Amino acid sequence: MRAQQQDLVRLLQLAYSGERGAALAYRGHAASLRDPHERAHVLSIRAEELDHRQRVGRILHALAGRPSRILELRNICLGGAISAFCRVGGWYLPMYGAGWIERRNLAEYERAARLALDCAATAHVEELLDMAEAEWEHERYFREKAASHPFSRLLPVWQSPGPKAGVRTRLQPATPRLAVHPALAAQTQ
Ligand SMILES: [Fe+2]
Ligand SMILES: [Fe+2]
Repeated sequence: MRAQQQDLVRLLQLAYSGERGAALAYRGHAASLRDPHERAHVLSIRAEELDHRQRVGRILHALAGRPSRILELRNICLGGAISAFCRVGGWYLPMYGAGWIERRNLAEYERAARLALDCAATAHVEELLDMAEAEWEHERYFREKAASHPFSRLLPVWQSPGPKAGVRTRLQPATPRLAVHPALAAQTQ
């Protein structure tokens, strides 16, 4: 297996287990929210993370990779700990923390899409970009929620990652092949 494909498989293993941890954490986060709209929104994000896990699992399988047991265990522990914290940690910190993690997830799916292009796994690029865009939406939701709270004056939120279209345009200049990839060509027009 080439080094770039190994990097991609490792990144997908992290994402696969990370989505499980996220789903666990969001269950506790949703249960901690009093506002029914917020609770429903966090549960819809949780459903998207579970869908991502399935999709990443399929890509991993197609690349002859397998989930990592150690990462699975680590993320079950981490997700469970975050879930428990959400029940006692008030409103602001879980919103802030979720947004901060989503920002990292956005960057990781963008990086996975770039690696998929670099190692000629182009069939998976569109799906990885689609998941990056979903993480962009998640990041925006939690960042805007956190920024709306007075505590954000004490613990300020980070800068926006920029417009959603950036998920695709950031990939384009470095990869002329993108322009002829039908799925992406249609999306970037
Ligand atoms: Fe996700
Ligand atoms: Fe997410």
